[in-house]
Amino acid sequence: MSQENAAPTTDILDDLISAVYKAALVKGAIELEVFSKVAAGQTTAEAMARTNGWDSRCTRLMLDGLCSLKLLAKTGGAYRLTPVSETFLVPGHLGYVGDYTLHDMAWEARGRYAQSVQTGIPAMGDMAAPNQSPLWEIFSQVGLNRDSLSRSVDSARELWETVGVNRRTVPGARVLDLACGKGIKTLTLAKLDPEATVTGIDWENVLRTTAQVAQILGVSDRVTLVPGDILTADFGQSEYDVVFLGNITHYFRPEQNVSLFSRVHAALRPGGRLVINAPMVDEERCTSEYLLYSAMFVVESPTGDIYTFSEYRRMLEASGFERIYRYEHPWGLLSARK
Ligand SMILES: C[S@@+](CC[C@H](N)C(=O)[O-])C[C@H]1O[C@@H](n2cnc3c(N)ncnc32)[C@H](O)[C@@H]1O
Repeated sequence: MSQENAAPTTDILDDLISAVYKAALVKGAIELEVFSKVAAGQTTAEAMARTNGWDSRCTRLMLDGLCSLKLLAKTGGAYRLTPVSETFLVPGHLGYVGDYTLHDMAWEARGRYAQSVQTGIPAMGDMAAPNQSPLWEIFSQVGLNRDSLSRSVDSARELWETVGVNRRTVPGARVLDLACGKGIKTLTLAKLDPEATVTGIDWENVLRTTAQVAQILGVSDRVTLVPGDILTADFGQSEYDVVFLGNITHYFRPEQNVSLFSRVHAALRPGGRLVINAPMVDEERCTSEYLLYSAMFVVESPTGDIYTFSEYRRMLEASGFERIYRYEHPWGLLSARK
């Protein structure tokens, strides 16, 4: 029986309510710094409630709820961190994602979704505007712990293998990474080819993380970091073999992308390639899992939209690109040639 003909259930709504419960519990625990308090020795509900002046019944209910999510474990009334909370939820650890989680939940702003639909004004502001750079700095610091970084390097290696950019096909590649974030994808390319150089552009405060990652990967001497707004910056003429745009083009209107791609086209050497790594939705905008993220642009951006491959092809052709190709990749991946 096809899913459309199956007897309807409330499963999707039940899951949603359960997700809201989980989010409320975890948000509250992060805000109260419960995980660092457990790490610091407040291991019983009574001790935590007494030390912080909290309600003891509510403290116990919260801590037990966190056990059900496997963010805490308990023996004989004493709570302890689990590997997940120890790695990701204790402030000061390299893997800490608490601030990122709170910001991305953006509880109050996402709660004004209906209002944003009515007005067209995104409740969270414009994620691609300079005033959002503190938020992006927090995002850039996610995944700096050793395991996450090594997983990211592995997936970056696969990405370049998929598009066929390596030290044999493009030896000593000059690479431009626009809105580079922590820069892991192109810095991996520099690690794989000791002759390659990378120029990264992003907001100044985000580039502090990029510099940190370049140092960890041992490629700092071949990396140039330039603060700037990629919507207006001039990237030069015929300077680069590869330009990389990772997870940023869906924040922009088609006209903004055409302007951006045209400046990228000018900056590439003849035969050079633009690689875009960004979510893409199905041509009908009906089945892709990314439609959920796309729907979030209502509150995150006055310009964002997740595009189809055909839409990317049109924007790239309008900017002078040829040989536009889409690859099999878990996240959308395409390349185009000057
Ligand atoms: C989702 S992250 C992508 C990071 C990286 N490119 C990747 O693929 O993982 C988006 C990045 O774009 C940067 N950004 C957003 N708008 C920008 C703009 N107008 N100019 C420069 N950087 C921008 C943010 O600071 C952030 O680091």
